[in-house]
Amino acid sequence: MDSFPTLLLFLFLLSLASFVSARHALPGDFLRLPSDQDNLPGTRWAVLLAGSNGYDNYRHQADICHAYQILRKGGLKEENIIVFMYDDIAFNEENPRPGVIINKPGGGDVYEGVPKDYTGEDVNVNNFLAVLLGNKSALTGGSGKVLNSGPDDHIFIFYSDHGGPGVLGMPTHPYLYANDLNEVLKKKHASGTYKRLVFYIEACESGSIFEGLLPEDIDIYATTAANAIEGSAPTYCPSLPAEHASLPEYTTCLGDLYSVTWMEDSEKHNLQTETLQQQYELLRERVSVSSRVNVMQYGDIDISSDVLFQYLGTNPANENFTFVDENYLRSSSKSINQRDADLIHFWHKFHKAPEGSAHKITAQKQVLEVMSHRIHIDNSVQLIGKLLFGIEKGPETLNKVRPAGSVLVDDWGCLKTMVRTFETHCGSLSQYGMKHMRSFANICNAGIKKEQMVEASAQACVSIPANPWSSLQRGFSA
Ligand SMILES: *[C@@H]1O[C@H](CO)[C@@H](O)[C@H](O)[C@H]1NC(C)=O
Ligand SMILES: *[C@@H]1O[C@H](CO)[C@@H](O)[C@H](O)[C@H]1NC(C)=O
Repeated sequence: MDSFPTLLLFLFLLSLASFVSARHALPGDFLRLPSDQDNLPGTRWAVLLAGSNGYDNYRHQADICHAYQILRKGGLKEENIIVFMYDDIAFNEENPRPGVIINKPGGGDVYEGVPKDYTGEDVNVNNFLAVLLGNKSALTGGSGKVLNSGPDDHIFIFYSDHGGPGVLGMPTHPYLYANDLNEVLKKKHASGTYKRLVFYIEACESGSIFEGLLPEDIDIYATTAANAIEGSAPTYCPSLPAEHASLPEYTTCLGDLYSVTWMEDSEKHNLQTETLQQQYELLRERVSVSSRVNVMQYGDIDISSDVLFQYLGTNPANENFTFVDENYLRSSSKSINQRDADLIHFWHKFHKAPEGSAHKITAQKQVLEVMSHRIHIDNSVQLIGKLLFGIEKGPETLNKVRPAGSVLVDDWGCLKTMVRTFETHCGSLSQYGMKHMRSFANICNAGIKKEQMVEASAQACVSIPANPWSSLQRGFSA
């Protein structure tokens, strides 16, 4: 009676044969096996952070909420997704649809179900870095969720906000400096608590966060919405032509170009077959056609041959979609800069308010305050440059751009000191003022001492303007 073992052997050979044939199939076909969801060793983790607040910045929290929905549909568990958002949009008095956040005209609600891990003042640099390192004892407030990842795990981080050379915004102070972020990423790698980590950043000058800083050998791959010297672009805005426009009842942009492009792409494909590299190329083309901004990639580029599935999972409803590089996102040559979106919001609010109403007066005050803050910051920085380097050399020295691939500043401590010195005398840089980070970096690179900067700042700014944008009440940027 040896038919039972024979049957077992037959079944074993059969399973081996199907395994081998699967191995020889295209990677996408192999990964499409129904049981594969469970075959990826380790856990998928994600950290999502919107770095702004205020209704004029609606789009950053919309981006983050949208990403959360994609990851959940992809199969990630809520316990493995950590969300940072100020949470002042859904129930903002200016929101025409209370309790709802959308990320494109006609798009569904992306707010429902998003966990409130870190909201309000808990969205800060200290908590973000503690979450990345999985250090619960360093947290202040929040849900206590951290990246409690292990050596086989895949991590996806998505950040959306304003930025400037070498810096990413936060709705609180201080801002996040590139060197601090990269040091934490190296520490995370040294702790052996991930297999691979993918980082997507939407922000102006976001390339400067990794340029010359992110090592190629720590299993991290990053893409950024812009290179080190360009602004990134919002989309679905009130001032844009029809196909990129917001809805009439919204006076604010609903999304950001790089962010909605990767997300709308991820929603239309089977992510078991689309690679990070394919998504990067698609992003690069679409974003540059629409805005002439350069999407970039950094770190360990070999990782870009991984399929998106390893990080984002995939929506089972998309299982029969294949990767087709079709250009379904309409493009236009008109776009606006991330930094002008607040101005556009305040302008539309002013424009829409009934003549002679209290709203009109408030909105006019806001427009004037935003503009006068900008003028004050620009003029003060220019004047300091002239005081330090002379009338002719001043502008040239402040605007100097190091060759591509170089780090922004050699001494990050100096950069922070210069920012604090400026703000002490001239008031808060706030989100618009982040554009001047390169000037402060160049002041350091030219070897200017703190005492010289104190003197120049005191001369340039006799007093801090009485304006909420210039107020230092919320703290220093550095
Ligand atoms: C966690 O954070 C605390 C407080 O900042 C610090 O003292 C401790 O060294 C950190 N632990 C690790 C493992 O980094
Ligand atoms: C994908 O195709 C298979 C075979 O045609 C079909 O059985 C399945 O329902 C499809 N899946 C979806 C989500 O449409």
